[in-house]
Amino acid sequence: MTDATTIRVGLLGCGNVGAALLQLIAENGDAVAARTGLRLEVVRVAVHTLGKARPYEVAPGALTDDAEAVVRDPSIDVVVEVMGGREPARALILAALDAKKPVVTANKELLANAGPELFEAAARSGVDLLFEAAVAGGIPLIRPLRESLAGDRLRRIMGIVNGTTNFILTRMTEKGQSFQEALAEAQALGYAERDPTADVEGLDAAAKAAIIATVAFGVQVAAGDVYAEGISAITPEDISMAQRLGYAIKLLAIVEAIDGEIAVRVHPAMVPLAHPLAAVRESFNAVFVEGEAVGDLMFYGRGAGGRPTASAVLGDLIDAAANLRQGRVAGLPRPVAARIRPIDELRSAFYVTLDVFDRPGVLEQVAGVTARHGVSIWKMEQLGLGEEARLVFVTHTAEERAMRATLDDLRDLEVVDRVGTPLRVVGAD
Ligand code: NDP
Ligand code: HSE
Repeated sequence: MTDATTIRVGLLGCGNVGAALLQLIAENGDAVAARTGLRLEVVRVAVHTLGKARPYEVAPGALTDDAEAVVRDPSIDVVVEVMGGREPARALILAALDAKKPVVTANKELLANAGPELFEAAARSGVDLLFEAAVAGGIPLIRPLRESLAGDRLRRIMGIVNGTTNFILTRMTEKGQSFQEALAEAQALGYAERDPTADVEGLDAAAKAAIIATVAFGVQVAAGDVYAEGISAITPEDISMAQRLGYAIKLLAIVEAIDGEIAVRVHPAMVPLAHPLAAVRESFNAVFVEGEAVGDLMFYGRGAGGRPTASAVLGDLIDAAANLRQGRVAGLPRPVAARIRPIDELRSAFYVTLDVFDRPGVLEQVAGVTARHGVSIWKMEQLGLGEEARLVFVTHTAEERAMRATLDDLRDLEVVDRVGTPLRVVGAD
């Protein structure tokens, strides 16, 4: 192909995603050029530590530890940021946008904390800021939400958007692996964040939930606005009890519109085995969208890992390059402020376990507490534990605030030895 337009790319970061992107461009660059008339040439690659062994060989002279020089290089047309973290990524992206260079990023942490500032800078300069890979890795989700579903009124989006935790829960369920063993494997496979606490405690999923809220519901939500609980308190017993009751435990990001307000949260949840999200295993992600006109949709695929994520980054890069050539810009989110409904005001069914002393009158005391707070038990089971008994119950839908007060009072009962981690039951409605 001789008449392809060459687009010179500056790459910031050459880890799991950056190295996979270089490899993908090497493999598919000719086909992309034939199909689009665009020849992507990665001319500079910024890394943190020059001497580090790389999974993919970078062209001699391209590697540098001066990321700012890459952004300021006037010969570079488009910047791809896959270094992660807030700084210096934020400053570098702003510098690129101010220099009128389109930017492609996979950095959900940054977008969920500094999104409005970055969108404004892109709008001011009239260039693209694309971020398909920031949510659900390789799954095309941002574009469908922003474009294909722009005319619908979305009610709720529920997603498994963290591959590491889905991998851990799957391994604990299916192979009886310990939490730590499964996490170590997820790290070795390149799914986990630099600090895996972000995965395990639900913060990575919270950042993605904030981005989904911004793109799909057009409201300003930052990562810190998202109520987040992780999976570190989930035990193998919770998993096997959930299975016995007909549920899978999944870490869900849930964004919903309720009476003109938005509710955004991340927590582990019991999902009925018949729900499509219950069947999502290993590091796969899935996002279940409920729209008024379109009905139910599910987006499914690889949400983590270098190559799937690089596939989404490359798609954005091709778009940014095509737009640059044609003097066009993709639409940017223009989120507005809205009340974010606090978790205390939300409603769901709950799964609760109580270890109680096995004596007459215990059930009456427990039922007295739930009745006092207006929490109604839907089903209950008792398992013998020698001196003690484990009460397992699932409630009807209750307000979070009432459930919290119920659990506090149950803890105070002399007959209750231990209250297990409560889990919300979702997806049955
Ligand atoms: P890695 O940690 O594997 O790679 C980060 C890269 O950035 C490394 O090459 C590192 O250099 C470089 N880097 C870090 N700090 C600097 C700096 N100050 N200056 C120059 N280079 C720097 O991360 P991933 O590739 O896994 O992730 C990249 C981004 O993609 C993150 O935002 C992540 O959240 C996002 N993402 C990742 C997915 C995944 O599955 N891995 C999926 C979806 C999104 P060096 O190699 O020298 O250490
Ligand atoms: N650490 C993230 C995950 C990478 O496990 O899903 C993809 O964003």
